[in-house]
Order: sequence, then structure tokens, then C-alpha cells
Amino acid sequence: MSYLGWTHAVCQQHLSRHVFPKILEIGVHYGQTTLPLVQNLAHGFEKFLYVGVDIWIRPQLDEQLSQFSDINIIIHGRAERSAASGRDVILFEENSLDWLTSQTGNTKFDVVFLDGDHNYQTVFQELNLIQSLLKPASILVCDDYNGKWAEKDQFYSAKDEYESVKIATPYDFSEKQGVRTAIDEFVNNNVDRWRGLHRIDLEPIILFNPHVYEAVEISSTNDVWKTLKNRPFPIRRLRA
Ligand SMILES: C[S@@+](CC[C@H](N)C(=O)[O-])C[C@H]1O[C@@H](n2cnc3c(N)ncnc32)[C@H](O)[C@@H]1O
Repeated sequence: MSYLGWTHAVCQQHLSRHVFPKILEIGVHYGQTTLPLVQNLAHGFEKFLYVGVDIWIRPQLDEQLSQFSDINIIIHGRAERSAASGRDVILFEENSLDWLTSQTGNTKFDVVFLDGDHNYQTVFQELNLIQSLLKPASILVCDDYNGKWAEKDQFYSAKDEYESVKIATPYDFSEKQGVRTAIDEFVNNNVDRWRGLHRIDLEPIILFNPHVYEAVEISSTNDVWKTLKNRPFPIRRLRA
């Protein structure tokens, strides 16, 4: 899935106070989220960093990004790599677990969109590794908290179109299954650091620091970001 109307809201509301926002997206696919994100960053900020990680960076995404003016595109592992400019879109064709493990933590991200492999083991490891790349006020937007892969594993390596993608994580049966299972366990293991809010009619969940935010909400219908106390809506709370 993609994050529907959330990218505009995140940029306009959450990132509006930032001078040099830094965004990490795990699982970019064809760029359904990447492209509006980069457009919002390029239009709204003098300096920004967007980093995308996927086991398969599609040529279509490179082509579309190359149509943007005034941004610097760096694709790792390819000849056209260039130096950072302060308006950078950096794509890594890597497995998220390898990429996250290799990070030094020197770059801290303000927002992370997590939507790579949809299985318990990957998501649980990703969440734990991502923590060292965040600031106290950073938010994590995790897709597929609700929906088909909430309690059931999906591995991209099992898809026919990924047969030649050798860096995809091999299928591995797990008693625990699904994206929501991983997120609930992660949040419940870190209750002092993370709180999650979601709507039952939308697939993603937002994780945030309860010491920084009382609550956050994004509506996909009218692009607003409001405190919960002003606008009640059906919330399914994390299970204990
Ligand atoms: C559901 S799609 C992402 C959709 C995208 N977030 C959007 O908004 O349009 C999932 C993507 O994750 C990638 N992926 C799967 N396993 C991965 C892994 N371990 N590391 C990085 N990317 C992965 C797939 O190649 C696929 O492009």
C-alpha cells in the first residue's frame, strides 16, 4: 500500500517547523509516496534530505525523479553518484536490514516511513534498528498496521517478479506473524519511548514519543493534523 494523502500532511504540518528536514523511506516501490514527498520537500524547504531504501529501485523512479529541477539525486551503486548538496534525494538499492545495520547514527531522521517487507521478523528488527537514527521528536509512520498483512506474513522474495532480486529476505516461517504483531511488541517493549495511534479505517499507524507529543493524527481525507483531544475518532488501542 501507499500512505494515501499522508505525505502532504506530514510535510505541511509535522515538518513545517523544521529548517532542514530529513526523511527516511523504507520500501519505495514505484515512488507513489516518494514523488509527492520529494515534491513537497523541494517546494517547501531550502535544505532537505530524503533517503529511500528498497531491494529493487525501479528505473521508472529514477526517470521520474530526474524530471524534478533543483534537487540532487544520488543513487548508490550507480555511476552517476555525486556529492551531497543540501537538497538531496538519495536512493539505496539494499535490503533494509543490511542498510540499517550499516548506519553509524550520524544522520538522524525527523520522519521515517516504514513499508518494506510485510512480515513480523523484518518489521520487528527494522523498528529496533531504526531507533538509533531518530531524534526525540521524530515520528515513525508504519504502513500495513491494519489490513491484509496485520497478522499474516508476506515476504517479497516469494513473489514471482522478485525472482531475480537476490537481496530480498528469504521466506522464514515464524510462529509470530504480521506487521501489527511486530509493531505491538515493539511498542509494548518500549512504552516509555513509543506510543502508537491509528484509525481502524486506515492502514498506517503513527508512532511518537509521548514525552514530546500528547497525540498526533493524520486524516487522509482532508490533510489535517490535529490533537486528538479536539477531534475524537475511533481508535483501536494497542493490545497489552
Ligand atoms: C508496499 S511496497 C512500498 C510502497 C511505498 N511505500 C508506497 O508508498 O508506494 C513495498 C516495497 O518494499 C520493498 N522491500 C521488500 N522487502 C524489503 C527489504 N527487506 N528492504 C527494503 N525494501 C524492501 C519492495 O521491493 C517494495 O518495493
